Amino acid sequence: MVRHIYALCALTELAILSLAGRVSKRAGEFDVLDWINPLIGTRNGGNVFAGATLPYGFAKAVADVDGENTGGFSTDGSNITGFSALHDSGTGGNPSLGNFPIFPQVCSEDDVNTCTFPIGRRATPYKNDSIKARPGSFGVTMENGIHADMTVSQHAALFRFDYSQASSMNGSANPLIMLDLTDLWASRQNASISIEAVDGGQSGRMKGNGTFLPSFGEGSYMLHFCLDVTGVKIKESGVWVNDRAGTEPKELYVTRGFNLFYIQAGGFMRFQGPLSAPILARMGLSFISTDQACQNAEREIPGPQFDFDSLVTTAEDAWREKFTPISIQTGNVSNSLQTNFWSAIYRTMISPQNYSGENPHWQSDEPYFDSFYCIWDMWRVQLPFLTVLDPKVMSNIVRSLLDTYKHRGWLPDCMMSTCKGWTQGGSDADNVLVDAYVKNLTGIDWELAYEAIVNDAENEPLEWSVEGRGGLTSWKRLNYIPYLDFDPVGFGTNSRSISRTLEYAYNDFNLATLAKGLGKDTYTKYLARASNWQNLFRADQKSFINGADTNFTGFFQPKYLNGTWGYQDPIACSPLADFCSLTSNPSETFESSAWEYMFFVPQDVGKIIELLGGEETFLRRLDFFHTSGLADIGNEPVFLTVYMPHYAGRPALSAKRVHSYIPSRFNDSQDGLPGNDDSGAMASFTLFSTIGLFPNPGQNVYLIVPPFFESVSITSQTTNKTATIQNVNFDKVYNRIYIQNATLNGEPYTKNWIGHEFFTQGWTLELTVGDTESDWGTKVEDRPPSMSNMEGQMELGM
Ligand SMILES: *[C@@H]1O[C@H](CO)[C@@H](O)[C@H](O)[C@H]1NC(C)=O
Ligand SMILES: *[C@@H]1O[C@H](CO)[C@@H](O)[C@H](O)[C@H]1NC(C)=O
Ligand SMILES: *[C@@H]1O[C@H](CO)[C@@H](O)[C@H](O)[C@H]1NC(C)=O
Ligand SMILES: *[C@@H]1O[C@H](CO)[C@@H](O)[C@H](O)[C@H]1NC(C)=O
Ligand SMILES: *[C@@H]1O[C@H](CO)[C@@H](O)[C@H](O)[C@H]1NC(C)=O
Ligand SMILES: *[C@@H]1O[C@H](CO)[C@@H](O)[C@H](O)[C@H]1NC(C)=O
Ligand SMILES: *[C@@H]1O[C@H](CO)[C@@H](O)[C@H](O)[C@H]1NC(C)=O
Ligand SMILES: *[C@@H]1O[C@H](CO)[C@@H](O)[C@H](O)[C@H]1NC(C)=O
Ligand SMILES: *[C@@H]1O[C@H](CO)[C@@H](O)[C@H](O)[C@H]1NC(C)=O
Ligand SMILES: *[C@@H]1O[C@H](CO)[C@@H](O)[C@H](O)[C@H]1NC(C)=O
Ligand SMILES: *[C@@H]1O[C@H](CO)[C@@H](O)[C@H](O)[C@H]1NC(C)=O
Ligand SMILES: *[C@@H]1O[C@H](CO)[C@@H](O)[C@H](O)[C@H]1NC(C)=O
Repeated sequence: MVRHIYALCALTELAILSLAGRVSKRAGEFDVLDWINPLIGTRNGGNVFAGATLPYGFAKAVADVDGENTGGFSTDGSNITGFSALHDSGTGGNPSLGNFPIFPQVCSEDDVNTCTFPIGRRATPYKNDSIKARPGSFGVTMENGIHADMTVSQHAALFRFDYSQASSMNGSANPLIMLDLTDLWASRQNASISIEAVDGGQSGRMKGNGTFLPSFGEGSYMLHFCLDVTGVKIKESGVWVNDRAGTEPKELYVTRGFNLFYIQAGGFMRFQGPLSAPILARMGLSFISTDQACQNAEREIPGPQFDFDSLVTTAEDAWREKFTPISIQTGNVSNSLQTNFWSAIYRTMISPQNYSGENPHWQSDEPYFDSFYCIWDMWRVQLPFLTVLDPKVMSNIVRSLLDTYKHRGWLPDCMMSTCKGWTQGGSDADNVLVDAYVKNLTGIDWELAYEAIVNDAENEPLEWSVEGRGGLTSWKRLNYIPYLDFDPVGFGTNSRSISRTLEYAYNDFNLATLAKGLGKDTYTKYLARASNWQNLFRADQKSFINGADTNFTGFFQPKYLNGTWGYQDPIACSPLADFCSLTSNPSETFESSAWEYMFFVPQDVGKIIELLGGEETFLRRLDFFHTSGLADIGNEPVFLTVYMPHYAGRPALSAKRVHSYIPSRFNDSQDGLPGNDDSGAMASFTLFSTIGLFPNPGQNVYLIVPPFFESVSITSQTTNKTATIQNVNFDKVYNRIYIQNATLNGEPYTKNWIGHEFFTQGWTLELTVGDTESDWGTKVEDRPPSMSNMEGQMELGM
């Protein structure tokens, strides 16, 4: 296949991007941005951020609505309440960020008190067909005719409001922009604003700050803003409180008063009509200081005339650049599958967010990334995907985790708005560090990584609800986390004894891998702990659905301190029963059932197969799990189960299962995600599945299935070598999805998995596909490694 040139062929056949540094669109050529739809997953719980951002950007501008607004905007038809410039993407929890929204309006009379200030009254419907969402920009028209466009730099947003078509607009109307000292969750504790007119009223500035709560974590954060409007004549300005406004005073401080009453308040500026053009409003932000918020904006979006279009061009070029390492030969598959693919790549780079230079907690020259929301969601596929596509940034992300350990004393587990978030299971950052280690990411202090993970494994923090692990005394003494543990050492939600046991065992397996790699003799100790999960396997446990025996025996069960079994119905916490989170219905398995966690032993799937009665029963159980309604395809623990037939020598069954979920459950519609995107986790499941290589992170293993395209090529950003995975006999309607035989760099290849060297060494894997299962990849020696088989341990780096 030809690379290093622009594609000249039909769009749907060949999508090749230039490998040259800066990439701009040229007429008639393939432009990847035309294939990205930021509205995928903006309804029905996807919670995707739909607005304007740079790759890993801090500033994220979008219209905020009063419906499903966890990510700010939603295509759920709810009403717009403001336009704000910080967001998270795909998260669960409470609505995140959305601080200091601004809102344009034309008031019915000249008196500013005829404007509508409180959020419930100002909320305005938008025109469904007016939404223009594209990487780097977002636009929408409200039912009242006011049109808003927005774009961003790294730390600032630029909004453009066009009032000319507003229904209430006439020659003598004086349009207004108001700012609300709130956030999406209404979590403000206190806030300040001051308003100043500069240049004799030719421009206006509102600046200030507020203290808010993180949407899924502890503590609070202080955020600063600086809003500039230029090129207009300021008619009047002032502050508003509840539904009243006045031109004096020019500053305001609000706090939580009697009974924590939530006062609605902020500032406003009114502009002398008639306006000759749309109004441009520049919003700078900072976690450090109000001055830094202004400086960020002045440096990145210089005035006095703000250049909206050039900012959009810069943002679009930054995005195009991010796609240069990857190209596909589509094999004429549907546009919808291609849009799904490119859009999913886009969503993996919205978060984590690069807050370097904006860390209020410590000073450091190391990178600082935030919005790990949460690592429990991200370690399985999203961060491994960045390791493939963007390894240099991934190294920075890993360094930022280590710098956090250095300054806070603990690796983060969940993190948002610079605060510590709630831990969901194990010490998930351990898995990220070791995955980076086995894939040879560069520039990382591995001794520091080892120290940080040992800290998680050995020392229990007082507050293990936000870092480290709980129940370590029992973990070391009994080799499992007991049901209703006695743990006076530290404090956290004392539930999830099964899932924590499984996760801690996997964390310890990863620690063993790193210890071995670094030549530490502790590796045997941690390898032994990596088998602790077996202590909660109850071989005679049965499972019933509506009184009917499923005929599968053997499940994880809770165990008390004294060694006696407890009981949790194996179907509890599955989609057939109740959802179990930290706060709603806390159980011994987190957000999934014992059915699903039965398969969560990524280090030793071979042992699971043995315990469940051999390959045949194991495969029947997997099949029942996926077809009975027990599997929750919208949450991360399920992901690897789709590919587990590989471990039983049946890669064809994995390929078949993947096609049962993509595109039916992961597609390019606005409600096309089965659950929260979780910063791009759902996106990355789609990506690894469609490129045909699925990771088991912490191990140098990708499970092979035929890609959804004729071929996919990825150029390693560390070695500059290009790897290609290719279907021979490709079939765009996917009747031929079974690998008949394979070659690696021209030589026969029989293993059903491959290591990361495929990417870094730029290998070529050719898969000949057919419409029936073959014996390719079925032999015992061709299966992926498992901890309990010695040959496997060598492959795993043991
Ligand atoms: C806009 O879209 C939403 C969500 O699909 C729908 O509920 C609403 O009825 C639509 N509004 C109009 C005017 O079509
Ligand atoms: C949106 O605003 C319109 C007009 O004010 C109102 O009729 C409608 O009920 C609002 N929708 C929601 C979901 O609040
Ligand atoms: C024009 O708008 C202003 C303020 O919004 C209002 O006071 C005035 O009555 C309007 N004039 C006409 C002719 O509609
Ligand atoms: C704002 O609230 C935070 C959190 O309650 C508090 O720490 C801070 O001192 C308050 N700031 C001001 C200026 O009152
Ligand atoms: C917060 O903003 C107010 C209003 O502009 C300003 O007076 C105050 O100095 C700011 N506080 C900090 C800590 O920057
Ligand atoms: C795709 O379409 C082109 C043009 O019709 C055709 O030449 C090519 O063989 C097709 N490729 C596949 C894999 O179907
Ligand atoms: C992160 O942001 C800083 C400050 O804006 C910038 O210097 C750095 O290059 C960015 N790092 C990455 C990996 O994008
Ligand atoms: C990592 O580096 C080691 C030593 O150079 C090499 O043997 C191994 O193949 C590399 N692994 C990957 C995934 O590139
Ligand atoms: C379990 O086995 C019994 C007896 O063979 C059978 O009647 C029943 O249908 C089986 N249940 C399921 C879910 O297959
Ligand atoms: C073990 O502890 C559980 C929970 O306290 C209790 O119900 C059970 O009877 C105990 N078993 C034995 C053998 O003491
Ligand atoms: C990869 O290519 C870039 C840009 O041409 C160059 O700067 C870099 O040194 C190359 N890296 C390697 C490992 O060849
Ligand atoms: C690979 O499979 C195809 C289709 O079954 C067959 O025609 C071809 O001979 C096989 N190649 C090898 C090397 O086995």
